[in-house]
Amino acid sequence: MRVVEKVNDVRATVKEWKAKGLKVGFVPTMGYLHEGHESLIRKASEENDRVVVSIFVNPIQFGPKEDLSTYPRDLDRDSKVCEGAGADIIFHPENEEMYFEDFSTFVDMNGLTAGLCGKSRPTHFRGVCTVVTKLFNIVAPDRAYFGEKDAQQLAVIKRMVRDLNIDIEIIGCPIVREKDGLAKSSRNTYLSIEERNAATILNKALTLAKEKIQSGERNSKVIIKLIEEILNSEKLARVDYIEVVDSLSMEGVERIEKSVLVAIALFIGKTRLIDNFTYEL
Ligand code: PAJ
Repeated sequence: MRVVEKVNDVRATVKEWKAKGLKVGFVPTMGYLHEGHESLIRKASEENDRVVVSIFVNPIQFGPKEDLSTYPRDLDRDSKVCEGAGADIIFHPENEEMYFEDFSTFVDMNGLTAGLCGKSRPTHFRGVCTVVTKLFNIVAPDRAYFGEKDAQQLAVIKRMVRDLNIDIEIIGCPIVREKDGLAKSSRNTYLSIEERNAATILNKALTLAKEKIQSGERNSKVIIKLIEEILNSEKLARVDYIEVVDSLSMEGVERIEKSVLVAIALFIGKTRLIDNFTYEL
């Protein structure tokens, strides 16, 4: 496995692979890899002949008061994870390789990005759509893998690929969790021991909400209230949002009559965590 820093190097290698008729899978990440990322890389390596993983902490998807400067990084460890999971290349560019000083073209999406994380992070999805488009143009894979952990991001990428006629198959992968149910996240490393214990409230609330829907509750307000009460019982937690939305349009629904996404964003201390489940009807 090789670590490549230059756009032209990745392009040349992928071109060689494609000339031999090989299929290329791609896993975009911001690094500090955990078993969630690893599951994406493994799936990509099962379904393709070659796999590219990108590791790039994309500055333009962070808001001015967010954690860009403290975002955890460890390329040596990440390299071992990638190699063990079957990656062939890590694309690890410097900021300057991705963004010219006078960079001025962005991919912006309406509608889907308005609610949920887009509401509390207003420039986030513009940054994600722009970098993912750039990475897609650089790597030119056949398939790209994204986690359902970031359910809105997955929906946004699927929509972007459809809207802009990007010829890449987008594959969603299930959420990987810790033993106690907390969704794996690079940001979990920010949590103190006390906060780490408190963070289990996310999955507890979602599990109870799912049971309530399974037992027949169809009123979104009742589900949201139930989740709110559970989250508010944890003194270290501060709710950012609790939403029940249509799983395709990401628009709020009053009654649960077709497939819905139940999504939460929660601050535990200063750390913002997200989790969700999709209920198929
Ligand atoms: P990052 O947060 O590093 O996540 C990279 C990919 O791993 C995303 O598709 C994310 O949904 C997936 N992932 C993270 N935690 C997961 C878990 N517990 N289970 C399953 N999949 C999980 O998402 C980004 O980076 C960036 O926004 C990026 C798409 C790379 C653009 O910069």
